[in-house]
Amino acid sequence: MHLATRTPAEAGPETMRAMAFARPGAGERPMPCALPIPTPGPNQLLVRVHAAGVGRWDLLERDGVFARLPRFPHVGGSEGAGVVVEAGRETRGFREGDRVYGLVAQRDPKGGCHARFALFDAGLAWPVPPRLALDQAAVLPVDGALAAQALHAVLQVREDDALVVFGASGGVGHFALQLARNAAVRTLAIASGGDGVRLAERLGADVAVDGRRPGFEREIARFADGAKRTLALLTAGGEAAARLVAALPAGSRIAWPHGVAMPTIARDDVVAAGFGVRYEPDAMRAFHALAERGPLVPHVSRRLALERLPQALEAVAAHHLGRIAVLAA
Ligand SMILES: NC(=O)c1ccc[n+]([C@@H]2O[C@H](COP(=O)([O-])OP(=O)(O)OC[C@H]3O[C@@H](n4cnc5c(N)ncnc54)[C@H](OP(=O)(O)O)[C@@H]3O)[C@@H](O)[C@H]2O)c1
Repeated sequence: MHLATRTPAEAGPETMRAMAFARPGAGERPMPCALPIPTPGPNQLLVRVHAAGVGRWDLLERDGVFARLPRFPHVGGSEGAGVVVEAGRETRGFREGDRVYGLVAQRDPKGGCHARFALFDAGLAWPVPPRLALDQAAVLPVDGALAAQALHAVLQVREDDALVVFGASGGVGHFALQLARNAAVRTLAIASGGDGVRLAERLGADVAVDGRRPGFEREIARFADGAKRTLALLTAGGEAAARLVAALPAGSRIAWPHGVAMPTIARDDVVAAGFGVRYEPDAMRAFHALAERGPLVPHVSRRLALERLPQALEAVAAHHLGRIAVLAA
């Protein structure tokens, strides 16, 4: 037990600052409150949160679209990074003071990372790669693991493939570009806005176009010309996604993560499927190995204080680049 290392700036020795929803609903805003510091189970780490990611899934959770509702007041935040304060007795390889990043299951009754302290299951927590700052590590696991699974497990990219990334300047998209470059896969980045195109170019996209402009899909035929295989990862849906799908050459493979509002695909000459992400320990261990070796550098475009979580959620719903983080420290 290392409660002495918790700072007196907390609301009390056993309570912490957190941002919590009182009830589900699209109009709801998380409110600051003092909640008990959670107690780690034998296989858990109590982590003093430095930073936490804010993503689209937080909006879905806020809006109460999932079949199972969390317990209220509810602290969200599925990913974060910080320092171990206490390691459960059955954990191995973690010590007080270690810098870690990790995942918390959505709707966990013990709360997520939008708080001063959070519990990580030891199997879903990893040492922060030395080349990354804590706020970068905080936004890595959800979208980074999704991008890695999309490219390596679902699309099974190979050197010299031609990969179209739709939503390339967003969370998943900007990780996908970096992983593709690392695998010597050519990319056409369909990014959002001029700033999105500039980010995609900086991250190594071979060609980058603005998918908010009419006619962006004309670039696809030129890009795919001569490629043995054309693959497409769609991280956003809607009418622009439909135009993209219509422009892909016959034989293309298309994948999108669950959560994307995909239009109906009326083509029988492409292979198309949505996929669910696995955040199980085995899959995540493989992801962490990738994160340690490089090549992923999370682009954190905005950092807001934890108390400004409502504004962070608005920023996720609006135009943004890469990822958005809240800082609890
Ligand atoms: N466990 C899971 O299953 C899981 C985990 C993570 C993510 N997801 C899903 O994966 C999807 C992507 O997540 P994310 O975190 O990457 O979201 P995100 O950061 O919002 O990325 C989506 C991107 O698509 C862009 N976009 C939309 N329309 C476009 C267009 N016409 N042209 C170019 N870009 C366009 C958006 O631009 P703006 O910034 O301008 O809006 C945004 O950058 C979401 O649906 C999410 O729910 C699922």
